[in-house]
Amino acid sequence: MRIGIMLKIGNIELDMPFFQGSLSGYTDEAMRSIARQFGSPLTLTGVMLDKTAACAKARRSLGLDVAKNEQPVAAQIMGATGEMMAKAAGALEETGFDIIDLNIACPAPKVLRRRRGGYLLKDPQRVRDIFLAVRGAVKCPVMMKLRIGYGGGEQSRDCFWQICENATGDGVDALVVHGRSVCQLYRGRADWEIIAEVKQRFPETIVIGSGDIYDAEEAIERIETYKLDGVLVARGAIGNPWIFSDLKALWKGDKKPEPATLAEQGEVILSHYDMISARRRHSKGVRYFRKFAARYCKRHPERKKAQLALMAAKTGDQLTASVKEWFGV
Ligand SMILES: Cc1cc2nc3c(=O)[nH]c(=O)nc-3n(C[C@H](O)[C@H](O)[C@H](O)COP(=O)(O)O)c2cc1C
Repeated sequence: MRIGIMLKIGNIELDMPFFQGSLSGYTDEAMRSIARQFGSPLTLTGVMLDKTAACAKARRSLGLDVAKNEQPVAAQIMGATGEMMAKAAGALEETGFDIIDLNIACPAPKVLRRRRGGYLLKDPQRVRDIFLAVRGAVKCPVMMKLRIGYGGGEQSRDCFWQICENATGDGVDALVVHGRSVCQLYRGRADWEIIAEVKQRFPETIVIGSGDIYDAEEAIERIETYKLDGVLVARGAIGNPWIFSDLKALWKGDKKPEPATLAEQGEVILSHYDMISARRRHSKGVRYFRKFAARYCKRHPERKKAQLALMAAKTGDQLTASVKEWFGV
């Protein structure tokens, strides 16, 4: 029976060592809220550019602020200089975010061209400068999201270890490690042996693993096999918030809950869409919701037909009617 505090990131105490990871384009206020309802003890925003995050007006217009009752929530930022990253971190802490997460991982070409995100894995000194500037600008915990190197070669790996060593020496509150290199993008399988090695080399540091977690059993197997402090749930939670209630039960030693009925799934889909439509005008909201709807339909026994019906909806009313019809709400 495992109950109580299961993971501490600085002063933030979590009752379960699994939580919703950053997914740019997905982990908006609505997806974070659903993950929380199903038991994720912490949620993260998608990555925000430092300049945008530092500007209250830009944050508001893009809906990037903390919602009511959503704590604890971490804000993830990306940039190329300590000065701007520190400004962003300070502004985000002031608006109520509980943790600042530094993105040293993003593999998108436009990000790499601007020497941000995963590009920084080539430059341990710059990562250190950024970390120290941010650390000095906020009181809240600061964590770092890394991939296991820029490429697969020795030099890339040396830079990765240097970054881990600097960050742990400088007092990072957690290292979140996605077991792929930047060049790998999302190909192949994540390398959990290297994530485990991070924990072995830096046993005092909180190390959270990420990569290919699609069900609760897998997440628990990873944390136990690789002796980590936590595991991130990312793509596996899109359209599947039940992964968190499964995790909560299995981690405590209870039986896995019965799978949600179609009607229960339908209720969640409708509530997710309602939250989105509160922020986006009707047809925009419907279009934006399609990527979530497609994932929700994965559990449907007539997946293709249900998906086609939900994708065909052009207005909020049509979408709601389709969900009601196909999920029997
Ligand atoms: C569409 C998409 C968006 C992502 N956005 C972010 C992001 O903004 N910040 C970040 O640190 N990681 C981001 N990631 C990486 C995930 O957080 C996670 O580390 C990665 O997907 C591996 O975990 P998984 O295989 O369990 O999804 C993103 C991944 C995907 C597929």
